Amino acid sequence: MIIHNIQLLAGLSDNKLRLRKGKDMAEFPAVANAFVLISGNKIADYGSMGSEEYSRYRATNNHQIVDAEWGTVLPSFCDSHTHLVYPASREIEYIDKIKGLSYEEIAKRGGGILNSAERMQHASEDELFEDAMQRLNEIIDFGTGAVEIKSGYGLTTESELKMLRVIRRLKETSPLIIKASFLGAHAVPLKYKKNQSAYVDLIIDEMIPKVAAEQLADFIDVFCDQGFFTVEETDRILEAGWKYGLRPKIHANELAKSGGIQIGVKHNALSVDHLEYTGEEEIAALSASQTMPTILPGAAFFLNMPYAPARQMIEAGLPVAMASDFNPGSSPSGNMQLILSMASILYRMLPEEGLNATTINSAYAMDIADQTASISRGKIANLMITKPIPSLAYLPYYYGSNKLSGIVLQGKYKKV
Ligand code: NIG
Ligand code: FE
Repeated sequence: MIIHNIQLLAGLSDNKLRLRKGKDMAEFPAVANAFVLISGNKIADYGSMGSEEYSRYRATNNHQIVDAEWGTVLPSFCDSHTHLVYPASREIEYIDKIKGLSYEEIAKRGGGILNSAERMQHASEDELFEDAMQRLNEIIDFGTGAVEIKSGYGLTTESELKMLRVIRRLKETSPLIIKASFLGAHAVPLKYKKNQSAYVDLIIDEMIPKVAAEQLADFIDVFCDQGFFTVEETDRILEAGWKYGLRPKIHANELAKSGGIQIGVKHNALSVDHLEYTGEEEIAALSASQTMPTILPGAAFFLNMPYAPARQMIEAGLPVAMASDFNPGSSPSGNMQLILSMASILYRMLPEEGLNATTINSAYAMDIADQTASISRGKIANLMITKPIPSLAYLPYYYGSNKLSGIVLQGKYKKV
């Protein structure tokens, strides 16, 4: 397949690029008047329409031709943090929030995650699958090409396994690249409220071995924060996970300077996510690590929380990734174009920095940067095609609407 009449083909890299950090985050290399050649599900070549290669490819007649109609073509978004398998929306709590209750207060009353967990016990795998599939189709049309999905609304062994089996089915059915994280430590179920350590034991002794035996998870997650799981509990859970080869990707520092970032770094987490409460010590810990700091603008925006210090992190030379956190409690949207706008509006990131945060860096945060998320020969052809736009900056600038005319997933074109 050839995609041609591309006004700007952006997000180019050699196929060794795994992330961009510090000053390099402002780079998002591009070529104008371009084409992309796709063979099977891979990018085979790309370049200028004035090139000899382009004429040569056009001379052979057996290509499907996609006319980009002078739109811009970029790598698809990677959404490295979502909870998009869930049993029901929670807009009633949203009213409580408008009236002034905090996320923690709602959780303490048995709302929040526990509300979803209660409903999860009664949800069937088929229902969960159908609803999640609809959400996946929605985010595909906004340009997402890869997504990480967590368990964590089960909170019993059976329900956690049920959620993970649903995610496995999504992996088998959807054209998206999908990764699964086991998040048994998302909240403490009511019946363990007075004996939190017994729930941690259950996660370690029963849940992790079963999840591993069925190979249901790629990563392990813990909500390490004030009012949820302590640093010591997180330490135990992550150690237990590593015994089964589960690399951590954890929730940290959303509600307080909880030590979550440091404990994530100690266990060589692939990413630490949220980071609203991040100071110099946390930045220093991240600087000496392979861990991707991941900011979730949707949650901070939706919950009216302080914004993570993205500029300070970038100025300290760190990479930053951004993801949607798509979930029914703190961020009921998986629209990564909106996340890109928030990167500039709320975090003062340049359009190029936002694009790196939502493509190559978020791909790193789900361990797929070697396969996708940049325009590189040999990488999976997951791309978005925009309507004609005046420049890259227009993408975050013109916020709230879908700027895409088409997408390519695994080398297959679809109109949006
Ligand atoms: O990432 N912070 C913890 N967990 C989710 C919220 C899940 C929920 O409220 O249902 C988050 O924001
Ligand atoms: Fe989350």
